[in-house]
Amino acid sequence: MSQPSVLFVCLGNICRSPLAEAAFRDAAMRAGMAVTVDSAGTGDWHVGQPPDRRARAEAASHGIDISAYRARQVAAEDFARFTHICALDSANLADLRALAPAGASARLALLLDYVPGQKGTSVPDPYHGGPQDFAECWRLVSLGAKALVEVLAGRG
Ligand code: 4NP
Repeated sequence: MSQPSVLFVCLGNICRSPLAEAAFRDAAMRAGMAVTVDSAGTGDWHVGQPPDRRARAEAASHGIDISAYRARQVAAEDFARFTHICALDSANLADLRALAPAGASARLALLLDYVPGQKGTSVPDPYHGGPQDFAECWRLVSLGAKALVEVLAGRG
């Protein structure tokens, strides 16, 4: 495959998908894999905003600074720009399927579909939760990110 390009999509693009983007960037870098990575939201409420401070704190606790990330809304062009689009939950996946132009080339899946035994599993939205929900979110997106790197490397 030509260089993979991966877009992570949740609802607001301020909690889960920025953490997935950060975890995947980190996993790809550790694997020595060149990738293009981005994240977006299906909704537009937070466009232009940095990640939620609790997501920033969770990433910082793993030595990763996501404070320069800015939220954007997913667009029809994304289905041609990216080789892989990973939805964080099943509602995001349904919204993406409805938005996908006919003949879209991007491979659309749930992030956790790439984790053996976790097919069909969503990453819960931590927005109305506490720090422990963001820690659990990081655990899940890291699992997904590492599994996706393995798949892209041809080892998954
Ligand atoms: P995310 O979390 O989809 O993981 O970024 C949310 C952030 C904001 C809202 C919902 C979910 N919101 O309704 O504003």
